[in-house]
Amino acid sequence: MSKISFLKLVSSSTGLFIILFLILHVSGNLKYFGGPDSLDNYALFLRIFGKEILGEYTFLNLFRIVLVIAFILHIWSTYLLTRYNAKASPQYESSLAYKSTTFSSKYMFVLGILALSFLVFHILHFTLGIIHPDGFEYLKVYNNVTISFKNTIYFLIYFIGVTVVSLHVSHGIWSAFQSLGFNYLFVKHARNFAKLFAMFLWIGFLSVPIFVYFFK
Ligand code: HEM
Repeated sequence: MSKISFLKLVSSSTGLFIILFLILHVSGNLKYFGGPDSLDNYALFLRIFGKEILGEYTFLNLFRIVLVIAFILHIWSTYLLTRYNAKASPQYESSLAYKSTTFSSKYMFVLGILALSFLVFHILHFTLGIIHPDGFEYLKVYNNVTISFKNTIYFLIYFIGVTVVSLHVSHGIWSAFQSLGFNYLFVKHARNFAKLFAMFLWIGFLSVPIFVYFFK
């Protein structure tokens, strides 16, 4: 297997894993609409899952480690692929194809950096409670979420953050299909699928902040 094929495999499989996590995460968030018990019990469930075999928190911590590794590998492989692609096509430097490739990789790079910054903020906010508008309480997820999205600044940060993540996912799925070598017709369908999927993710994630900010 060539180095490029290996990097493509790492980048697309870790991307897929992160997308699966996002699907799980967005479904978990929708428990907000079931009320405080529904969401808080879900957070507790995540902590005690597998406790008979592994002890409390072990499964969650293992999952966290795998997720962090997936993020690191994803960033590393996509960064190297972008560099290879730019180096491999210097002869196209003045062509439209080259310009569109460099535009799309610069766009993905900027979106990726913004998505990562949002993720760091998000973990400091909801997981660790270090940044919070008022009175973060461990395992009182419903309350922490409600207080946060009543605050305009936090609402706006999440609105922008979720939009950036959705755009990154949309473009990422499409370019993964493209770099896996699917033909033009399929790529067109893949592009529509990626947009539709990212839109579901965007609506799903933003449903909670919008509900809290405007209707609660
Ligand atoms: C409005 C959108 C979102 C809300 C309301 C939300 C809510 C939360 C909450 C409450 C937690 C802490 C869970 C707990 O303590 O049990 C959490 C953790 C987390 N979220 Fe989100 N999230 C949102 C969007 C996102 C997005 C877009 C991403 C990915 C880029 C993301 C990635 C994570 C990660 C990695 C964790 C840490 C899991 C852990 O180790 O505890 N979240 N989120």
